[in-house]
Amino acid sequence: PPLRIDVITIFPEYLQPLRAALLGRALDRGLLELGVHDLRDWTHDVHRAVDDAPYGGGPGMVMKPQVWGEALDDVCGEHTRLIVPTPAGRRFDQQVAREYARERHLVFACGRYEGIDQRVMTDAARRMRVDEVSIGDYVLVGGEAAVLVIVEAVVRLLPGVLGNPVSAEQDSFSDGLLEGPSYTRPEVWRGLAVPSVLRSGNHALIDRWRRDESLARTFHRRPDLLERLPEGSLDERDLQV
Ligand code: ADE
Repeated sequence: PPLRIDVITIFPEYLQPLRAALLGRALDRGLLELGVHDLRDWTHDVHRAVDDAPYGGGPGMVMKPQVWGEALDDVCGEHTRLIVPTPAGRRFDQQVAREYARERHLVFACGRYEGIDQRVMTDAARRMRVDEVSIGDYVLVGGEAAVLVIVEAVVRLLPGVLGNPVSAEQDSFSDGLLEGPSYTRPEVWRGLAVPSVLRSGNHALIDRWRRDESLARTFHRRPDLLERLPEGSLDERDLQV
């Protein structure tokens, strides 16, 4: 069965980009099912209130547990993995994207950044897997933009979504390194030439050159990634660079 994704938010229109471009095509082709839900549909009061002042005081508002509880009861099922974007979450990365791409049902609960009453996650975890995840060390206004990021990273990994399946396997992070530079015609542009090795026709040499460029770029831009490479991923030749 295709992956099903449900998103619960107070800004359903913010999730419209999910129906455009690559993701829209995946939906049209039945590779993915998507539901976007307005959290306020689960309120019962005339004001359709979704938040309240925090216990203990402090700035901002906290999202009310009753509304979220009913929404999750309706939207979640037997196979749900619940994802709650928050700057206080565990870091989302390519490895987590690969995990999510193997699930049957992802439900995203978008809160404002002050958060959702913690008992909502505690209660949900009594019957399903719950991940609080961060897309990076910066603070957004709410979880919606993080959902766009996470869904795009996951959906491009689904079988049939990318035209060319090797491009998902060969991109940055598949081997733990950054991708090196790419070039297309013309051979010289504004006085800048394409590296001649790429026009040599020697594919062993081209592969070696690309690997060296990846290593050099990773060393300069993301030395933290080199520390986290699995044992044995650098060969004899890599270490000479
Ligand atoms: N909500 C607010 N900031 C966020 C972040 N960095 N990652 C995920 N969700 C968020």
